[in-house]
Amino acid sequence: MNVGIRFVQIAAMYMLIGAGLGIAMGISHDFTLSSVHAHISLLGWATMSIAGIVYILLPGCSRSRLALLHFWGHNAGMPVMMISLVLYTYGYKPAERTIGAGASLILVSLLMFVVNLYLNGRRAVPVGVEESSRMNTAVGASE
Ligand code: HEM
Ligand code: HEM
Repeated sequence: MNVGIRFVQIAAMYMLIGAGLGIAMGISHDFTLSSVHAHISLLGWATMSIAGIVYILLPGCSRSRLALLHFWGHNAGMPVMMISLVLYTYGYKPAERTIGAGASLILVSLLMFVVNLYLNGRRAVPVGVEESSRMNTAVGASE
């Protein structure tokens, strides 16, 4: 599995859900779920797509087992946190615990991402570096 591409693909789904919810809120003038919309857009679309792009740029990080822990943790935590947040927002207060569980899972998975970046980020040859250095040589040679 290419973690980077999968992250970007799933992020795009969250983008659609977030934008759909945003438009629904705008049309209905009911902003009760504004916080859900914000976190679907920011944790689902923004954070996941940035992580995906980072994995695509740094293949050394994407090959690490830490990337899989990050991927599954973030993806399992999202629905738990978002569904619980909807329930909590509509008054089901016990959902507070599962919001915490989902959020903690996401936070731990983000920690895996950071550890991975520090362990494997420097060693990884970023995609395009070799290509751009060849291009630089070519530009230099033509001058
Ligand atoms: C078609 C796309 C979108 C629509 C129609 C939309 C619509 C909305 C609406 C109606 C609100 C509630 C405003 C209020 O409570 O006064 C809102 C809040 C918010 N939106 Fe969006 N949104 C869209 C995309 C996005 C995206 C892509 C992001 C982030 C990447 C985003 C982040 C936020 C945040 C953080 C808030 C909460 C702001 C706050 O509470 O101060 N939205 N959006
Ligand atoms: C596990 C991760 C996260 C948790 C547990 C969390 C939790 C929270 C909480 C409790 C609030 C206050 C909500 C309210 O007053 O209704 C909040 C608001 C906010 N958070 Fe997060 N957050 C997380 C990740 C993020 C990320 C990654 C971003 C940005 C990339 C972000 C951006 C915001 C923004 C813009 C607001 C204000 C909008 C709003 O009130 O809905 N959060 N967050």
